[in-house]
Amino acid sequence: MRPAGASGGPGGAQAGPSPSEAAVPGGSQYGTTRTGNRQAGPRVFSGIQPSGDLHIGNYLGAIRGWAEEQDRFDAIYCIVDLHALTVEQDPARFREQTLETARNLMAAGLDPERCTLFVQSHVVEHVALSWLLQCTTSFGELRRMTQFKDKSAGRDSVSVGLFTYPVLQAADILLYGAEKVPIGDDQRQHLELTRDVAMRFNHRYGETFIVPEAVTPKVAARVMDLQNPTAKMSKSAQSPLGTVLMLDPPDAITRKVRRAVTDSIGQVAYDPERQPGVATLLEILAATTNADPKALAGEFSGYGELKNAVAEALVEELRPVRERSRELGRDPGEVLRALRDGAARATELASMTLARARHAMGLLDAG
Ligand code: TYM
Repeated sequence: MRPAGASGGPGGAQAGPSPSEAAVPGGSQYGTTRTGNRQAGPRVFSGIQPSGDLHIGNYLGAIRGWAEEQDRFDAIYCIVDLHALTVEQDPARFREQTLETARNLMAAGLDPERCTLFVQSHVVEHVALSWLLQCTTSFGELRRMTQFKDKSAGRDSVSVGLFTYPVLQAADILLYGAEKVPIGDDQRQHLELTRDVAMRFNHRYGETFIVPEAVTPKVAARVMDLQNPTAKMSKSAQSPLGTVLMLDPPDAITRKVRRAVTDSIGQVAYDPERQPGVATLLEILAATTNADPKALAGEFSGYGELKNAVAEALVEELRPVRERSRELGRDPGEVLRALRDGAARATELASMTLARARHAMGLLDAG
């Protein structure tokens, strides 16, 4: 189900092929030439919405892994502003948020010399391919998306964009011939849809797209809310105490972790079913210290001790991110330049794929 010359196989952030053993997907048809320090080779793509402050769910579930993959893969990361428009945004604030998101991704380790970082709406091919794919996706498929059900529940009016959102996400990924898509657990269903749409398109119109695979981190693929550990940590949580922001100062991190909800069992064990609060703390600690949450549990005799260790580890992990964000804030030109270069490279790649998809579907060229 892949275009000729594409490589497959399991792997990714946890067990990816080394650049030397991995064949270049699709050869030149996917535009794999080396640009600057970027690696030619298997490609990863992922995206993030600029819809609010980034939190440790985003960081541990996705961004940290993205930074690690820059040197092993041809990594393309996108600030998906068009996705964020599916719910109402304040226009003036939204522009700032998009720039802030770019700055904070760079602060968290995305280096525009080693990866391609760009804003989705700067590359018009995303919208164009999205329409072609909407005509290859069924209404029923989109109706089954749990994120649509969750986000539309209880609202009087829901935008059509919120409904067709996963197709735009499929276009994001398929435009770049990405083999791996590093994401948190909540995006798995969207990835499944992307695969289905790609396979259907290839079957109907001839091999056009690489069918991508989701890659989720071993721990922290779903970081839970510290106040409500059976719900995912998110930008729209009910209590701000439940969400640790990537740029929270040390005292705020410590306060939130100390006040995290645990249970009355009183024993530190890794049991997400029975002890979801404690499991969340252990997972955060495991992710920040590259350890195993089960093994870590044995090192603590009480919840206070565990919370202190989690707070300390998070403060140390996020300190350089805050510092770098502050530095980059002094020179917005640097971030804008990186985004402009990123969009130029992304456009080069995306326009080739769009041309192939147009041709496969029988659209007449402008001549
Ligand atoms: P978004 O902006 O909600 O989240 C960005 C990334 O952060 C991960 N994430 C989490 N991981 C662990 N625990 C959590 N509590 C948590 N919360 C968020 C998400 O899984 C995601 O990887 N639809 C996507 C954006 C998107 C995209 C794409 C992603 C658009 N096009 C193409 C990949 C490929 C979204 O809303 O992510």
